[in-house]
Amino acid sequence: MTLTFLGIESSCDDTAAAIVREDGTILSSIVAGQTALHADFGGVVPEIAARAHAEKLDGCIEEALAQSGLSLADLDGVAVTAGPGLIGGVMAGVMMAKGIAAGTGLPLVGVNHLAGHALTPRLTDGIGYPYLMLLVSGGHCQFLRVDGPEDFNRLGGTIDDAPGEAFDKTAKLLGLPQPGGPMVEAEAKRGDPKRFALPRPLLDRPGYDLSFSGLKTAVLRARDDLAQAQGGLTVQDRADLCAGFQAAVADVLAEKTRRALADNPVPVLAVAGGVAANATIRAALENVAADAGARFLAPPLQLCTDNAAMIAWAGIEAFRLGRRDDMTLAGRPRWPLDQTAAPMLGAGKKGAKA
Ligand code: KG4
Ligand code: ZN
Repeated sequence: MTLTFLGIESSCDDTAAAIVREDGTILSSIVAGQTALHADFGGVVPEIAARAHAEKLDGCIEEALAQSGLSLADLDGVAVTAGPGLIGGVMAGVMMAKGIAAGTGLPLVGVNHLAGHALTPRLTDGIGYPYLMLLVSGGHCQFLRVDGPEDFNRLGGTIDDAPGEAFDKTAKLLGLPQPGGPMVEAEAKRGDPKRFALPRPLLDRPGYDLSFSGLKTAVLRARDDLAQAQGGLTVQDRADLCAGFQAAVADVLAEKTRRALADNPVPVLAVAGGVAANATIRAALENVAADAGARFLAPPLQLCTDNAAMIAWAGIEAFRLGRRDDMTLAGRPRWPLDQTAAPMLGAGKKGAKA
């Protein structure tokens, strides 16, 4: 029998539901964002997010079922993000999943949101274990060696900001709209990455940890120096700063990935998270993988960013290991994937999107 699962995701500002089969077929994947609701606040407001999830979850699930052509009776289980994330939103999803499980008798599986991201290349490309996953988003940045559905080894990560956060802050510093990543990338296309000598943080230190907050401060300094010297920034100055910043992020990610692959010679390097959309960063990582003789995998963008298909998939993988949850399933604001790794500063500490 091929398992079919409903996945539910509500840990940050995307309400999502999906129907996924064990053979990797995504029958439907609905994502309702909340960008407009939070736009005036410069970030995700947890209470607003939780309320919006509570309001939108049932509609998203109905739509996911309708698009799949299935009803609840055709499913084999319900997987839901049980953390880490903004607890109000996580609870809204968990309560919805419990209600469906109680009403239908379907098995319930609580899923770690980060496991959803980390297992996505298995859903999209059917790869085997082990592989290296670089998760680079607005709230997270970590290298994971993935050896099984629940076997994650965090090799390293950011000690302060996530790269997406640094892109967003850099955009803000330069007067560009949010989300900053795509804006900075567009500006960088017209810029000279060599004009400003921006730092490559932590490259001089061994290991795989990363840091992005100093880089953002260096952009701030360069901007202020220009403002003082010439009274403001020209369009070219801004493009050059964006190009310099982006090149620095790409260099740092590439070098740390090169080290991680050298010490963990696995056949595949995979990336996930919104920052993986950046063409310069993607190309840099692709080169590193090619040099190491590894295959490079970047899932399609809608599966790189938050979605419920990855949650359904992670639920199927956990279910096959025999994992089941019951009505005592509780949401967890923090839930490190690698329980043995030392806690890291900056790893979603502000409840940012994972
Ligand atoms: O994965 P995602 O959609 O949400 C999180 O889970 O964080 O990632 C969003 C982040 C934002 O910080 C955004 O600026 C960044 O990914 N991002 C990019 C690009 N597109 C999105 N960063 C750099 N270049 C891009 N093209
Ligand atoms: Zn995420």
